[in-house]
Amino acid sequence: MAKILIPYGTTEGQTARIAEYISDVLQARGHRADTLDLKHADHDLPEGYDGVIVGASIHAGKHEGFVADFVRRNRDALEHMPAALFSVSLSAHADPEEAQKYVSEFEDATGWHPSTVAVFGGALLYTQYGFLKRMMMKEIVSSQGSADTDTGRDYIYTEWDGVRRFAEEFVAALERNPAPE
Ligand SMILES: Cc1cc2nc3c(=O)[nH]c(=O)nc-3n(C[C@H](O)[C@H](O)[C@H](O)COP(=O)(O)O)c2cc1C
Repeated sequence: MAKILIPYGTTEGQTARIAEYISDVLQARGHRADTLDLKHADHDLPEGYDGVIVGASIHAGKHEGFVADFVRRNRDALEHMPAALFSVSLSAHADPEEAQKYVSEFEDATGWHPSTVAVFGGALLYTQYGFLKRMMMKEIVSSQGSADTDTGRDYIYTEWDGVRRFAEEFVAALERNPAPE
């Protein structure tokens, strides 16, 4: 049994849901998986994990700064263990090139170049946004030519099958190359 940590940053909650889903997939494979909301934790990587999957979401073109801080602070450890990054954005659904650009910028800013990276579609949670955020997101989405402008409902773009495959591939690689006891 491997122990895997899933530290993440989230602003409206979709990255937290994806982190929990990854944790469920890993636990179904017989491993221990702990999620860690970085906003409420101190920033040192806890000891005793065999692998780490970092998650972050995009707002105004950037991942959460506190996730970048966490990665910079623990970069050395992340580089010496199986570690992956997933990035959550609307671009991952609508404009994958843009989503990759956000990842490259995160890598440049942190100096961490994980061997495994995934981008996942996030969510437009109109019903949970305050008035200004709702109007702003509707405006942005509409200016991009999308029809997803009904602010009376939410739109979820996360493809859960892709998330499950990402988690299964990560753990399969870990099972092939377990950390020495
Ligand atoms: C205020 C705001 C700004 C956003 N800016 C971007 C952006 O610049 N690019 C993008 O692809 N997605 C953008 N998004 C979409 C978010 O990445 C998406 O809603 C994601 O699911 C948020 O994840 P979280 O719920 O874990 O915070 C934005 C969303 C909000 C609410």
